[in-house]
Amino acid sequence: MSKIDLLVKGLVEQHGKTRNSLMPVLQGLVQQERFLSEEAMLVVARELDLAAAEVYGTASFYTFLDTVPRGKNIVRVCKTITCHMKGKEDIVNAIENTLKIRTGETTHDKKFTLLTANCLGWCHKGPVMLVNDEIYPDLTPQKAIEIIEEYATLNGH
Ligand code: FES
Repeated sequence: MSKIDLLVKGLVEQHGKTRNSLMPVLQGLVQQERFLSEEAMLVVARELDLAAAEVYGTASFYTFLDTVPRGKNIVRVCKTITCHMKGKEDIVNAIENTLKIRTGETTHDKKFTLLTANCLGWCHKGPVMLVNDEIYPDLTPQKAIEIIEEYATLNGH
């Protein structure tokens, strides 16, 4: 069992195995690890019986849970096999070109961070992406660009 497994199990024991424990468990992890790794989020999802998307969504919504400087909107494109085969690469390229950043980077105006994620549980509607805690299924490059542009305008006010 890895260190993360043990840590998460301990926190879940302490806070209880319910949906309400998600925040305290994530906070406990950040306190001890100083960073929420993807591995840690997946362990939390498993231990609390939650969808990975829900854990990612919560973590990216509460920006204080991240120790890495992030943009206001966190875009996570699923990189797992089904979405990969359904053209996630074109989606990533389209977003990279629109935001003028590479995956893993944050735009200069700090509005967007682009990341990839493991399976978000929406394989039947791939390719999918998560923007903050919102899932966007059945993407095409054009659709992805429109969604990103919508967020850019929304946050402009
Ligand atoms: S492979 Fe992308 S949501 Fe499952």
